[in-house]
Amino acid sequence: MFETIKKLAGSFGVSGSEEQIREVIKNEIDGKVDEIKVDALGNLIAVKKGSGKKIMVAAHMDEIGVMATYIDEKGFIRFSNVGWVWQYFALGQRVMFKNGTAGAVFYEQKLKEIKDLKLSNMYIDIGAKSREETEKKVKIGDTACFVGDTVLAGNMVMSKALDDRGGCAVLVKTIQEMPDTDNEIYFVFTVQEELGLRGAKTSAFGIMPDIAIAIDVTDTGDTPECELMEVKCGGGPAIKIKDRSFIAHPEVRRLIENSAKEIGIPYQFEIMEQGGTDAGAIHVTGGGVPSGVISIPCRYVHSPVEMADITDIENCVKLLRQCLKGY
Ligand code: CO
Ligand code: ZN
Repeated sequence: MFETIKKLAGSFGVSGSEEQIREVIKNEIDGKVDEIKVDALGNLIAVKKGSGKKIMVAAHMDEIGVMATYIDEKGFIRFSNVGWVWQYFALGQRVMFKNGTAGAVFYEQKLKEIKDLKLSNMYIDIGAKSREETEKKVKIGDTACFVGDTVLAGNMVMSKALDDRGGCAVLVKTIQEMPDTDNEIYFVFTVQEELGLRGAKTSAFGIMPDIAIAIDVTDTGDTPECELMEVKCGGGPAIKIKDRSFIAHPEVRRLIENSAKEIGIPYQFEIMEQGGTDAGAIHVTGGGVPSGVISIPCRYVHSPVEMADITDIENCVKLLRQCLKGY
């Protein structure tokens, strides 16, 4: 599991530029499904054929990042966010453009109060001496991801982009040991989730499944003085009840809970006050798709040091497999 997460999380795939991560995932699942296709927006769809129910399983392969918007005379790059990037998390971080160019994210030193820090008074330094030199490596509109190596800390895996390469790893592992079922399963690695669940919208419309299950990370309430929340790392997969985009369909929620009971793994319920996930778009597609979410409890979401319990992620694989067999 760790090696799979490391490979996926280490790949480049800022929203709208998912080419590299898509190839990496494709190589991991090649030959393990009946069909692999890429739709108009770039979603990667792996199909296991069957005569039973049509089930869509979604995890987003895009990650948050930054986009070059302006290059000054000295070669410094101004940027905007792609997805939700908090300026305080970005400060002092290293970013990497798709072509491998490394950059340091820093801020205008005239800034007196750190509370006035905004992405608009920050810049990326790629070590160039002029606008011309920068433009040889970075063009306006190029995106960069944050750099955060994937390492183990106790039983926790720490990395950038566990949101949602952790979920992608759950799908990849499930595909590699495909559950024995007649159901027709559409494993969808979606694009542009971080920009507003965009890939999930089109892929769900294209598939029109009987039910859908999304796999994504959720916040936790288990760090010092954090917001109160009933989810903790190591407590098992979290079954989503509600977030800003979605309320779980009772039938799918029950399927997930019963599946967890059947295989005897720990689980917890999640109500996330901020953010949403792919199921938010899928469940309002067409005439509606009953949907549920299995969440990976994750600390420090949208930072380069996202942390999740590796046993929780392994249990997500077991739980998803049981759901796909049991429906
Ligand atoms: Co996210
Ligand atoms: Zn996510």
